[in-house]
Amino acid sequence: MENKLRIAVLVSGGGTNLQAIIDGIADGSIQNTEIAVVISNNPGVRALERAAEAGVPGVVISPKNYASRADFNEALKAEIDSYHVGLIVLAGCLVTIPGALIDAYENRIINIHPALIPSFSGQGYYGLKVHEAALARGVKISGATVHFVSRDLDAGPIILQKAVAVREDDTPKSLQLRIMEEAEWKIMPEAINLIAAGRVTVADGHVFIK
Ligand code: GRF
Repeated sequence: MENKLRIAVLVSGGGTNLQAIIDGIADGSIQNTEIAVVISNNPGVRALERAAEAGVPGVVISPKNYASRADFNEALKAEIDSYHVGLIVLAGCLVTIPGALIDAYENRIINIHPALIPSFSGQGYYGLKVHEAALARGVKISGATVHFVSRDLDAGPIILQKAVAVREDDTPKSLQLRIMEEAEWKIMPEAINLIAAGRVTVADGHVFIK
């Protein structure tokens, strides 16, 4: 067996995407991958409980614990580097990723966004706000996107997308839950599995899956 893809998963809250990764590794739908560490910017969140239940090391690195954002950025990168991972996964991560980290891990950081990028993405579009905007616009289809992280927010090369029909009686909450269940929790594990299998390449800002 070729050596496993080691991943660091960055979280902020519920950790349902982390749980989908944990479950995918356990049921074999994600091959050749191990979670080296889960890092949360918030203490006491469900994501850290999920890591502990899975026997995965969990660490809190919060901007609140550092004198400056620069100190936080440095501590975050040092912690991640110490685990010698091949991929950083942003799974419900709401902290700004330092540019130095993005540069050091070019096309080795992936993020899940709860809309079909470029729709409802970029500055200010996160969590429920994404679904409020989709419903306000009256779109008939929304969904989720897994993409590589670049310095421009939500603008890195797109790896996978999955569409979800919007219902006339949807609320932001019902739409968020259905997109998580039907899209996020499927394409995030699928993207990791493809990367672990060496099937994903990036050229001229476009992703090719062989
Ligand atoms: C999800 O809507 C995800 O798309 C967004 O953060 C929310 C919570 O994710 N990135 P999780 O349950 O913490 O994985």
